[in-house]
Amino acid sequence: MGSGLTVAVFGAYGHTGRFVVAELLDRGFVPVLSGRDAGTLASMAASGPGLDVRPASADDPDALDRALAGAAAVVNCAGPFATTAAPLVEAALRAGIPYLDVAAEIEANVDTFGRFADRAREAGAVVVPAMAFFGGLGDLLVTAAMGDWTAADEVHVAYGLSSWHATAGTHAAGRVSRQRRNGRRVRFAGGRLEYVDGRSPTLEWAFPEPMGRRAVIGEFTMADVVTVPSHLAVPDVRTYMTVEAVRDLTAPDTPAPTAVDARGRSDQTFLVDVVVRSGGAERRAVASGQDIYAITAPLAVEAVERILTGRTRAVGVVSAGAVFDAPDFLRALSAHLSFELHGESVGRRA
Ligand SMILES: NC(=O)c1ccc[n+]([C@@H]2O[C@H](COP(=O)([O-])OP(=O)(O)OC[C@H]3O[C@@H](n4cnc5c(N)ncnc54)[C@H](OP(=O)(O)O)[C@@H]3O)[C@@H](O)[C@H]2O)c1
Repeated sequence: MGSGLTVAVFGAYGHTGRFVVAELLDRGFVPVLSGRDAGTLASMAASGPGLDVRPASADDPDALDRALAGAAAVVNCAGPFATTAAPLVEAALRAGIPYLDVAAEIEANVDTFGRFADRAREAGAVVVPAMAFFGGLGDLLVTAAMGDWTAADEVHVAYGLSSWHATAGTHAAGRVSRQRRNGRRVRFAGGRLEYVDGRSPTLEWAFPEPMGRRAVIGEFTMADVVTVPSHLAVPDVRTYMTVEAVRDLTAPDTPAPTAVDARGRSDQTFLVDVVVRSGGAERRAVASGQDIYAITAPLAVEAVERILTGRTRAVGVVSAGAVFDAPDFLRALSAHLSFELHGESVGRRA
């Protein structure tokens, strides 16, 4: 694994970046630490085994080129991605290496598909936005649940988070997205993103036991509404979030995540319940694990490893479900994630 290949991590000293660096080291890659603060990069490197530090600001193409020199791939963990994604994709295209990011911002992900689809395809490059818990995992689960279906009527992704102690980066990304939406909220219906006024509905979702029926915020729209329709013909993609998690996210006094184990994970647990419907039939996939920031690292690094070993199905700007063998990818993460595919049933669950 890893084969000593160098992988640049931009935003290496952020909460998620640190998980990605640790996962790269675990798998035998050589991470290069990059980001805009030379001092923080240096102190991070001093605490580890001789890591290479290459400071770069997103608005300095020469510094970005130096940061990516000799790297086999780059993982961008520096958000808001409205600012960092385009310059880092440009740098990756100049370097001729794959680009992955962990962007949860819907509009930033739309921009990455819109701005770079043609150029990345023509260059034979692989650009994977949202290769993370939100956007990536949901898309892999939807793709796995679809099985041999290439189209469906509806996709539902219900997030059962026990809590959500968000990082500064998550809050900053939320602020940027809210500004871009001008007070409205976004959903994916009728085959397109639409911006609507008013509050999101509160409803109940029947998660698998032992979680069971829980109150969720409907139209709590996450990056899956970009990744899933990028490669599957589904007119309606809806995402839901447990009310406890939304309350944590929006409360002014919720603390940042605190590590409870040696890997730095918090005690947050997640269950992602995906239901796809076509005609009268329903298929389902479920994943569960611990800490949405921590799980982003094995998702992103498994993706890096598959790209660098040619286990891909597409080039261009691609989502996880489009470029990887989704069930195989999810099973490969069994050390980090429980994953179950449920056979087809007829009729709807309540
Ligand atoms: N899709 C998902 O499921 C998922 C999962 C995890 C994280 N994320 C996203 O990833 C981003 C980072 O999250 P985090 O938890 O790691 O937050 P964090 O701990 O606050 O780290 C944010 C990192 O981004 C860097 N950064 C911010 N703006 C930058 C800019 N303009 N140029 C260069 N670096 C910049 C920060 O550097 P400074 O300290 O120098 O500002 C820091 O290293 C957020 O946008 C978050 O939403 C998404």
